[in-house]
Amino acid sequence: MARVALVTGGQRGIGAAISEHLHKMGRKVVASYAGNDAAAQAFTERTGIPTIKFDVSSFAACQEAVARIEAEHGAIEILVNNAGITRDGTMKKMDREMWDAVIDTNLGSCFNLCKLVWDGMNSRKFGRIVNIGSINGQAGQYGQVNYAAAKSGIHGFTKALAQEGARVGITVNAIAPGYVDTEMVRAVPEDVLQKIIARIPRGRLGTADDIARGVCFLTADDADFITGSTLSINGGQHMY
Ligand SMILES: NC(=O)c1ccc[n+]([C@@H]2O[C@H](COP(=O)([O-])OP(=O)(O)OC[C@H]3O[C@@H](n4cnc5c(N)ncnc54)[C@H](OP(=O)(O)O)[C@@H]3O)[C@@H](O)[C@H]2O)c1
Repeated sequence: MARVALVTGGQRGIGAAISEHLHKMGRKVVASYAGNDAAAQAFTERTGIPTIKFDVSSFAACQEAVARIEAEHGAIEILVNNAGITRDGTMKKMDREMWDAVIDTNLGSCFNLCKLVWDGMNSRKFGRIVNIGSINGQAGQYGQVNYAAAKSGIHGFTKALAQEGARVGITVNAIAPGYVDTEMVRAVPEDVLQKIIARIPRGRLGTADDIARGVCFLTADDADFITGSTLSINGGQHMY
């Protein structure tokens, strides 16, 4: 039986590539999203992968969504915590709302969804969890104390939870993408983007496929000796 995989933020950007690669690998993928119904509909029409709308920062919404997914598709055995947002600003300009939104969406979501699939994974003695961090969580970034803290938190969260899962066949890993060619990065002014690319030894932005291949590798059935690790996929920009 195909294993069920939930990819949060899985209908566009990096998440869409992750969903499609897992689907090609034979996984039964469900892609979640926050509110972009048009993108979700177009994604399902193009790929045949079902989508579900819920807010990953709300524990109650996650609870309801996980119950629905498991009733309709089966137990979630692969979880990719990919949904994320930015609300950039220097400390002078950042307000509490910007802080909370980024912490709750990027890091709180990892707790919410891991908590909700954990008992099931424990009882089946199998699970694959991948949390999408960021190079900016490893190296920090000007104007991103909220995002860097959330992503850095993901890396600590991953190492701690990996220790709890190791004896019961659940692996928990993180991927730290560098700058990937998505809407999030294309929103950066062109001159700034060129400066960013100049700092990437590989000489280009990453692609969503570059990240998706890492997820396939870490979630393979026979990847059970890899846990608690952070896979940096950044073109050599930051060697951690
Ligand atoms: N792009 C990069 O260069 C880069 C680099 C390092 C790390 N990352 C990380 O990689 C992940 C994907 O980035 P991306 O560039 O592909 O992002 P993106 O294109 O902006 O897509 C974000 C996805 O997350 C969903 N989402 C946002 N808030 C949500 C919420 N509260 N509840 C449920 N879903 C929510 C969005 O749903 P809607 O479409 O409905 O809004 C969308 O599917 C993020 O965690 C990001 O931090 C990206």
